[in-house]
Amino acid sequence: MIEVAKSAGFCFGVRRATDKVESLIKQGKGSKIHVLGKLIHNEQYNDFLRQNGVRCITEDDLDALYSRAKNGEEIFVVIRTHGITRDIQQILDSYSDRLNVIDLSCPYVKKIHKIASEETSQGEIAIIIGKAEHPEVVAIVSYVNTEAFVFESADSLENHLKQITKDEKTTDLPIIMVAQTTQKLTEWEKCQKIIKKYCTNVKIFDTICSVTEKRQTEARELSARCDAMIVVGGKESSNTAKLTQVCKALCKRTYQIETANELAFVNIGHENNIGITAGASTPDCIIQEVKKKMSEIMENENFAQMLDEEMAKKQKIYVGATVKGIVMSIDKNEIRLDLGDKLTGVITRDQITDSNDVDLNDLFKIGDEVEATVMSKSDIDGTAILSKKKVDTVKNWSKIVELASTGETVTAKITEVTKGGVVADVYGVRVFIPASMTGVAKGESLDALKGTEQEIKIVEIKEDKKKAIGSIKAVIREKKKAEVEAFWDSLAVGMEFEGPVKSIVSYGVFVDLGVVDGLVHITELSWKRIKNPSEVVSVGQIIKVFVKSFDKDSKRISLGYKTDDQNPWNIFKSQYSVGSVASVKIVGITSFGAFAEIVAGVDGLIHISQIADRKIDSVANVLKVGDVVDAQILEIDDEKQKVSLSIRALLPKEEEATEEATEEVAEETVEEVAEETVEEVAEEATEEAAE
Ligand code: F3S
Repeated sequence: MIEVAKSAGFCFGVRRATDKVESLIKQGKGSKIHVLGKLIHNEQYNDFLRQNGVRCITEDDLDALYSRAKNGEEIFVVIRTHGITRDIQQILDSYSDRLNVIDLSCPYVKKIHKIASEETSQGEIAIIIGKAEHPEVVAIVSYVNTEAFVFESADSLENHLKQITKDEKTTDLPIIMVAQTTQKLTEWEKCQKIIKKYCTNVKIFDTICSVTEKRQTEARELSARCDAMIVVGGKESSNTAKLTQVCKALCKRTYQIETANELAFVNIGHENNIGITAGASTPDCIIQEVKKKMSEIMENENFAQMLDEEMAKKQKIYVGATVKGIVMSIDKNEIRLDLGDKLTGVITRDQITDSNDVDLNDLFKIGDEVEATVMSKSDIDGTAILSKKKVDTVKNWSKIVELASTGETVTAKITEVTKGGVVADVYGVRVFIPASMTGVAKGESLDALKGTEQEIKIVEIKEDKKKAIGSIKAVIREKKKAEVEAFWDSLAVGMEFEGPVKSIVSYGVFVDLGVVDGLVHITELSWKRIKNPSEVVSVGQIIKVFVKSFDKDSKRISLGYKTDDQNPWNIFKSQYSVGSVASVKIVGITSFGAFAEIVAGVDGLIHISQIADRKIDSVANVLKVGDVVDAQILEIDDEKQKVSLSIRALLPKEEEATEEATEEVAEETVEEVAEETVEEVAEEATEEAAE
């Protein structure tokens, strides 16, 4: 749980001052405002004022301002809550005819001035409990008419009084005692006791402002019930420092911070109850920011990790150191980083990338954490010149080494073509790829590779020289291997492919199946008898094939090319049956008959006895190759794929007398012929015809 003290933040004095100045800024008079010192002890707020033209001045500037005012310039001189010394007040009073003096001294402070002045008019000595160098105390002292002593603590007061009183132990010197408005209450109470002990003629004025008193009381109560306390306020703020002391007395884990960012260095994320209070100069927005960030830290399960990261930001910045920073701005030619400790890191484009084309906005975004090496540092202007490339080179070399050991591939751009190969940019590291490992055929130009993205494998590293050798070919080879494996795993009989004829040999053709080649045997190319595969296909021709069988071990694939629907026997069967009449072409003449083509690839035999209605001595006397005649299909032998034809069957009826004899002969013929292959007979017939 986070509890914020009700009284945390601006007191009415500070609020009054800031409201007044902000109202002038709103009227467009920011650049005319001159504050004697910082308006409040809060750098963030003072930055805001600076950005709006408000200037901080010292009393030395007053003369010049007055001169300008006399020349007609409108000038506002603001007296802050701490008040000013009597001398400066007098100067301002004398200049008030021209300067617009806005006195924003807190009424509590003014009251002390009055006491200091009036109560020391009769020779009284003034004792002031507060910080001597604090502007408020300096001003109070200036109003004392006699002698003033300032003590920061009860102890120092007592030591002083002891010296004055010596043996008498008390003094009756007229003394007045006041406190700085923001004095710690308990210390003030102690001081009162002490002074009463040593001084018999003392007048004590309780000048601690009620707001401070209330704030401290509340802080005390809050710190008593919290595991940790955060006190928010400027480092120069006296009241914040006192508040921290108050809290620390009851809660050891009390931390004073100026902004929410400093929470990163406060290890209290795991506490259950956290209290927040803030000094009188702390704007509400900062308190709310602290509360918000603290909530986030408490909710963050990875608090420890985050802490580590944030702690890492508390880094030593020296030339050669590797530092981390948060990107604050991105320009065309540089990025700027917040390195902490009010130091800005600058990384110019050439220390980020070698490419002139890259838009730095594509590489970074505001809030990114960037690691870089410090090249130089200037404490005067608060900048450090950094190099990201240097860090990247070291980091990326380890990535290269890792790639080499794991065998993983990486995609990289080819940036150069050299004499013996090409150079790839792998994570900013130059990786050389010899020509023989580029995958480009020997003797061919490597120029086409330049500018391309290639998948690369690191095949060798030379750690001492920080050199790496890459290979594109190794990647191609491995991919191919994997592809081949996958191909064989998925291969199945019947699978169809379409690919180019790669080569033709006497026994068939090799077809490129994309990954491997398959063989179509010559007998699988055509239903017809062919002497050379080139009769059917040519090299480069894209053909459709299917897997007939394969052997993964011997890496052989037998492919089919001719299909059943092209099978001449099937075509014949689909068109003809026994008794059908076909117009056939005589393709061969033998002593026992003639062979006739019924459909392409299917021949039938017309036995000599079936050629005419009379006995003929020679077939050649009646038919010759090339004749086209009508013939009836007498018989189809499916098993042997043989057909018997008859011309005689189509002749007039008188031939019926011999029909029976003819059929007998036909039967004999079919059986006889069955002993030989149709092809053999056809060849014989062809040869005869050729003669
Ligand atoms: Fe005034 Fe007290 Fe604030 S003295 S300025 S009201 S802390």
